[in-house]
Order: sequence, then C-alpha cells, then structure tokens
Amino acid sequence: GGTAAAAEGTGATAGSTAVTGIAALVTNDPALGDGSRLGLIRDAAVVIDGGRIAWVGESAAAPAADHRVDAQGRAALPGFVDSHSHLVFAGDRTEEFNARMSGRPYTAGGIRTTVAATRAAGDGALEATLVRHLREALRQGTTTFETKSGYGLTAHDEERALRIAARHTEEVTFLGAHIVPPEYAGDPDGYVSLVTGEMLDACAPHARWIDVFCERGAFDADQARAVLTAGRARGLVPRVHANQLTAGPGVRLAVELGAASADHCTHLSEEDVAALASGDTVATLLPGAEFSTRGAWPNARRLLDAGATVALSTDCNPGSSFTSSVPFCIALAVRDMGMTPDEAVWSATAGGAAALRRTDIGRITPGARADLVLLDAPSHVHLAYRPGVPLVSAVWQAGTRMY
Ligand code: NIG
Ligand code: FE
Repeated sequence: GGTAAAAEGTGATAGSTAVTGIAALVTNDPALGDGSRLGLIRDAAVVIDGGRIAWVGESAAAPAADHRVDAQGRAALPGFVDSHSHLVFAGDRTEEFNARMSGRPYTAGGIRTTVAATRAAGDGALEATLVRHLREALRQGTTTFETKSGYGLTAHDEERALRIAARHTEEVTFLGAHIVPPEYAGDPDGYVSLVTGEMLDACAPHARWIDVFCERGAFDADQARAVLTAGRARGLVPRVHANQLTAGPGVRLAVELGAASADHCTHLSEEDVAALASGDTVATLLPGAEFSTRGAWPNARRLLDAGATVALSTDCNPGSSFTSSVPFCIALAVRDMGMTPDEAVWSATAGGAAALRRTDIGRITPGARADLVLLDAPSHVHLAYRPGVPLVSAVWQAGTRMY
C-alpha cells in the first residue's frame, strides 16, 4: 500500500502496480464496462499484482498500489494472442516473394526451400532466429504465441524444432505433416507412416497440439485423419491448416475431430461455414497469408454472421506470410475481410485465446494473467484507423514490463 511511486522502464517490479489514466480499456469481459463483448471501460485503471490482474475498474476508484504508471490518456487492451505461427526455420524466400509479386502463383512447394535450409542449420541458429522474431512480435504487443515444427520433416529435425520452441512457449504444435519431403516423393503413405510412428514418438513429449496441412499438393483427408487421430491417441489436440488454397475437406475434418481450430478458412462452402458455426472449432483467419500470396481474402463477415468464433493471427513464416505484426493483420481484417475494429481486436486477443483453449489470457479481468498493452492512441480502433503506425507503447507480460 502507501503512496504510489512511478514505475517506468522495463523489468519485474516487486509489489503491485496500478496503471491509471487509461482513456479506454478493452477487457473482453462483457460483465465489465459498457456491457459490449469488448467490455470497454472509459477512464479506467488496472492493478497488476504477482503476475495477475488484481483489479479492474474506473480510474477514480482504483485502490492504492505500491507503484503507479500514468497511461496519460492512452488506450489499453489485452496482449495479443498469436495462435498461429511457424517460427522455427532458417533461410528466407525473398526470391519467391519477388516472383509472386510479378505474377507467379503461391504453391505449397515453396516449403521445400525452407526445409532444406532448416535441416542444414544448427540448433543455435534456429533458436536465435526464433528469439529475434519473438522479440519483434512482443514489441508489437504479442504476449502469447503458438509456434510449430514443419520445416524439418525427419524425426530428428522435427524433434529438435519442437524442443527449441518449447523453451519459449507452452503452445507448441507438431506439424510433421506439412508437406511430403522430397525423399518420400514417390511414397506419400510411407511418409504418413513415419509421421504417425517414429516421428510422433520423438515429438509428442514436446508438443501440446498436432496439425496437418490438408490441401491439394500436401495431405488429403484420409492422410490428414490418420495423422490427427494418431496424435490424439498420444494426447495431442488437433488443429488443422484447412481450406487455404482450395475448398477442400480440411474444415469439415477439423470439426469432425473436435479440433481446437481450423486455420486459414479462405475457401469455404456453405457446409463448411455451417460446420464451424455449430461446433467448438474456432475459425482462425490469417490475412498476412493472403496479403503475401495475393490470394482472395477470407470472408470473416460470413463466418461471424453465421455465429462462428473467429480468431485472427499472423501465420508468421518465411514463405506465405512473413509478418509478426498482429496490428497489421487487424488492419487488413477490417479493411478487406468485413470485420469491424471491435471484432478484429476481440479476435486477435480473446479469439486467439479460444483457439488455444485458454481462459487465463486474452482478457483483462481479475485473476487473468497480466498481459497488457498500452497504445499511443486514445482508442483500440486506431489499430485499424492508423495502419502501419507503431502504436504499441508499453507491454506487460505476466506482470513484467517487457517494453
Ligand atoms: O500456413 N499452409 C501451409 N503452411 C504455411 C506456409 C508455409 C510456407 O510457405 O513456408 C502457411 O501458410
Ligand atoms: Fe500456417
């Protein structure tokens, strides 16, 4: 208790911290504030203690705390939950991007370039690249991220990718079934046997999730089902790269198997939309991929109007979406996918948490993990209104000031 000292600068702070003078706070708790889905509180304060949110309310009513940060009229929101990225990789694909921007189409085949570079890289190089992108994401407000394997495609290289990822996040996904690697080109079912056998044995201890790229040129419905059910038998929970490039069977398979999320959802039939609206599977939209592949935008409006839960994430990877910026994805979703700014901000925070089946993140409510972002703006709407502008001015992750 007592008088509040200013707590500027990064690092852990002993005792409690009150962040006061927040012009508009997105809580994602409909029981708070204006009663909307965003639970918006004007002239708000948040008290952080022991890595958790201890109190939320109007600034005038804030209890005493050991330290105080004056937000000076900035907006605040939960840290972004980026529920889909591919950050364990080596090399880059500038040439492929260049070729696309002069008219060449995106195909899953480009993944092989990154597989070759990743296999040739040492653990230290892979981890350094991962950490560089994590820091980049954190500066842009991402406080939770999922990441996956999928550029190793041998038992050894997939295992080390997951082992490295698990040092930096709990949300680790085994994507051995990303594409069929060149050495199995004539024997895709032999590769599926490797993924569901020896590779799964090596990888399951390091992962929470199992994923498959269900797409023409990658894995068909039967192969994808075999991979996901084998993973499920080992305690991994399914998520699916579904309907990215074509209207294939991925979304319906994801819903059928109770996957946490169907990711991409760019080419959807009426049945796909109805399946997502009726099940618990979150539809995760990744507009960075359509930006970078010049693909048609996923129709978020159609999913939301049908009643599906929509998450918004970066898909950060060197091939189809080399952005770590959730604010950029929010701006795209608002401009081109039919989302309102409120919906896009919800999807990038609470939506990502739902896609990871987490209730401790994605909201600013007592007991939640203290992941808080301050914007150099009076409202979260500025994330879409001022695209490309670095608005994130402070980030707390589990109560520690990171930026
Ligand atoms: O999510 N769709 C499959 N995997 C990635 C692309 C990976 C790559 O091109 O390297 C994606 O877009
Ligand atoms: Fe992806």
